[in-house]
Amino acid sequence: MTAVALIGGTGLTVLEGLEVLRRDTVDTPWGAPSAPLVHGLVHGCPVVFLARHGPAGTIPPHRVNYRANLSALQEAGARRVIAVNAVGGIRPGLDVPGRLVVPHQIVDYTYGRAHTFFEDDLEHVMHVDFTEPYCQPLRETLIEAGRRAGLEVVGRGVYGATQGPRLETAAEVDRLERDGCDIVGMTGMPEASLARELGLCYAAIALVANAAAGRGPGVLSMEEIERNLREGMRSVRSLLEQAIPLA
Ligand code: HPA
Repeated sequence: MTAVALIGGTGLTVLEGLEVLRRDTVDTPWGAPSAPLVHGLVHGCPVVFLARHGPAGTIPPHRVNYRANLSALQEAGARRVIAVNAVGGIRPGLDVPGRLVVPHQIVDYTYGRAHTFFEDDLEHVMHVDFTEPYCQPLRETLIEAGRRAGLEVVGRGVYGATQGPRLETAAEVDRLERDGCDIVGMTGMPEASLARELGLCYAAIALVANAAAGRGPGVLSMEEIERNLREGMRSVRSLLEQAIPLA
C-alpha cells in the first residue's frame, strides 16, 4: 500500500494520532522541502506528513518551496496528496470560523512563485490539463470522511489563491467574490498545479479561520485567526483520521 501524503498548513504542523516511524531529511533537484518528511501510520495506514510552513511554522506562503515539497512527496512514493489550507470565508455561510470546505475550483492570483516543473531543458512544451484542478475521487473521500466524523463539510467551493503574506483589502475581497471565489487563502497555488504536473492525485480540505477582509466586524487580528485555527484543527484532525484509511 503506498502512503497517502498530508501537507499540513498553518495550525497543523504536527498530526496527533500519527504513530511516527521515522523522520527523513531529504533534498530534491528543486531544493529542500519545508521540513523533514514524517513517515508514520494512522490506524495502521501509511502516511507521509509534511509541514508546509516548516516545523516551527516560520516559512511564509510566498517563500514555501512548493516544487521541493511536491517532488519530495512523490519521491517518497506518495500518489495521493491531501492538503490542509487555512482560508478566509467570502461567500455568505462560509464566512464563519470553523467551516470546512472541500474546494472544487481555483482562481490563481499569485505571482512570482516558482510554479512549474517544466521550466527549461524541455524536449517539448508541457501544458497539463487543469480544467478540474482537484482529484475528484480524493475530494469524494474527504467529503465522506467528514460525514463519518460527524462533521458538516461544504462539498464545493472556489478557492481564490492570493499572494500574501498580507491579508486582502475589502475591495480585493469584493473582486474575489465577483470572480466567483467562495474562500481565499495563500497556499493553494501553485501547490495544486505542481501536483498535477507530477501526476499526483491532489485534493484539499480548507478550514475557515476568519470572515475575509471587510466581511466581518472590524479588522483582522492574527490572534483571532490563530485561535480559530487551533479550535478548527480539531475537526480537521478527526476528518483526516477518517480520510486516511479511505484514501
Ligand atoms: N485571506 C487569505 N488567506 C487567509 C485568510 C484570509 O482572510 N485567512 C487565513 N488565511
